[in-house]
Amino acid sequence: MTLPRIGVFDSGVGGLTVLKAMAEQLPAHYSYFGDTARLPYGTKSAETVARYAIGATRFLEAQNIDLLVIACNTATALAFPRIQEAAHVPVVGVVEPGAAMAAELSKSRAAIVIATEATVSSHAYRDALQRHGVAAHEKACPLFVPLVEEGWIEHPVTEQVARIYLGEALAQAPERADVLVLACTHYPLIAPMLRRIAPEHMQIVDSAESTARVVKRIIEKDEICHPERSEGASATERSRRTPIQPTSSAPAEHRTFRFYVTDSTDKFKRLATRFLGRQVDHVEHVDLGG
Ligand code: DGL
Repeated sequence: MTLPRIGVFDSGVGGLTVLKAMAEQLPAHYSYFGDTARLPYGTKSAETVARYAIGATRFLEAQNIDLLVIACNTATALAFPRIQEAAHVPVVGVVEPGAAMAAELSKSRAAIVIATEATVSSHAYRDALQRHGVAAHEKACPLFVPLVEEGWIEHPVTEQVARIYLGEALAQAPERADVLVLACTHYPLIAPMLRRIAPEHMQIVDSAESTARVVKRIIEKDEICHPERSEGASATERSRRTPIQPTSSAPAEHRTFRFYVTDSTDKFKRLATRFLGRQVDHVEHVDLGG
């Protein structure tokens, strides 16, 4: 039996935090597509993001994937239904797993969500959390993405920016908020800093980690064929699916990683080590046009 083939889509390098979390939990053949030429998505319109995301979906489907993970919070928040409609394989986004984990942890039923401008404006997390009975205060933190890409992880400037953002969010959020949701691919890298700055009683939810758990559960239980969640695939798509092979029968060391980017492969390789925690040797350049 073969390992499942998982496609991972992100606007750039950030989605490697989701890939890292998945690879730690789940042996699979991973194909990662980073739309580095067109990032950031966090400042773009839903229409544009949907168009880019559907192009990436087509590309990854051509790599024969069994399951597509939208690692980008902005793409999930702005375009998930459209991606799902366009896809021929089951699709998992990052919003629902993050919201479900936050709801599981929150005792006070109030959370703070930090994300890009576009994710915050879409209110996708607010709506998902509301469905789980949790009130959300959303805060855009647009400076975090460039700071993390600059490598300023434990840096006084990033710490000061984080103190300002979190201070503002805490001042505006319901006092009882007891969960902080990291709703952007880049934020797990500054999670230790955010942990130090956030009030002690607040739990931190990393949507990369939550998504990895959901993907693992789907693959292991082969829920692919019988999904129950809304951020899964539609009924028509379900009937088109072939069951994914269980992972237990294939040794983890047989897994492979393929990386595709739309801009410089060298820059991706440089940044990838930081996000993935391991060196990436082979990256292919692809041009999707449009
Ligand atoms: N991947 C994006 C996200 O998770 C952050 C980077 C971008 O804006 O493209 O929202």
